Amino acid sequence: MRVTVENKVVMVTGAGGGIGRATARLFADGGAKVVVTDITEAAARQTAELIERSGGEALALVQDVASEADWLRTLAATVERFGAIDVLVNNAGIYVIASVEETSLEQWNRMIAVNLTGTFLGAKYVAPYLRKQGGGSIVNLSSIAGLQGSAEHAAYGAAKGGVRILTKHLAAEFGRDNIRVNSVHPTYVRTPMVEYASGRTGLSAEEYGRMLSPLGRLAEVEDVANMIVFLAAEESRYLTGSEFLVDGGGTSTEVDPSPTGLAA
Ligand SMILES: NC(=O)c1ccc[n+]([C@@H]2O[C@H](COP(=O)([O-])OP(=O)(O)OC[C@H]3O[C@@H](n4cnc5c(N)ncnc54)[C@H](O)[C@@H]3O)[C@@H](O)[C@H]2O)c1
Repeated sequence: MRVTVENKVVMVTGAGGGIGRATARLFADGGAKVVVTDITEAAARQTAELIERSGGEALALVQDVASEADWLRTLAATVERFGAIDVLVNNAGIYVIASVEETSLEQWNRMIAVNLTGTFLGAKYVAPYLRKQGGGSIVNLSSIAGLQGSAEHAAYGAAKGGVRILTKHLAAEFGRDNIRVNSVHPTYVRTPMVEYASGRTGLSAEEYGRMLSPLGRLAEVEDVANMIVFLAAEESRYLTGSEFLVDGGGTSTEVDPSPTGLAA
């Protein structure tokens, strides 16, 4: 099955690297016009250049997703360049591993501001544009940490858990306007985030990834990008208010402790 995103105008936040960059490139490969935003201007530009070099259309914009003014500016620039917007991927996120007692109020507030408030602001300000188009899709990046507890993940997990339930409320409110809203919940993916986490265990990212999934390998950014693009495409038109795990089965089973499992 081919998914249909051709000519859609798609904004991907935090697309200067990692999952966001892979997603922006996959949309462009499918013929979408992509708005690449990031808090780091050079990173956003690099992604846009990669897309243009492969024959795609992209616009790079600098944006802090926690800033209301930045949302207004980037959405206006999107519509000025491409005439409309059809899809928003709320991908930008920050990650800190810290115990509750180590977490300062400032760190907590920034985690909520970027990961949760950023998602709320995106939905709030994109909705009128999507309504004008007769509908659209919003894809929110949560995490397995938005579904289950982990030591030293209270701030990140609270923000990502907020993203999960915010998604369902948005879906309920926007459904009548044919605006679909879904959340994606990756496990660790091959990005600096997994290096940061595995570095604390003494395992390599590769070894860590093998332990996390019965498939026995680390997730790649494309594994998550495939899900995001599907949720934006016509073919997912009856999906809304749902949460989609991209975890290689990791949360559906403990690491198999049987002799067969341990030998795998
Ligand atoms: N990588 C993983 O293992 C993993 C697992 C689960 C969930 N996620 C989630 O997926 C999303 C992407 O993760 P990633 O690993 O690709 O991250 P990354 O750190 O590689 O990329 C995130 C991008 O967001 C940008 N950014 C940071 N703060 C921003 C802000 N305030 N406004 C705009 N841009 C900002 C960064 O500059 C960076 O380019 C995040 O929401 C993350 O929480 C990642």
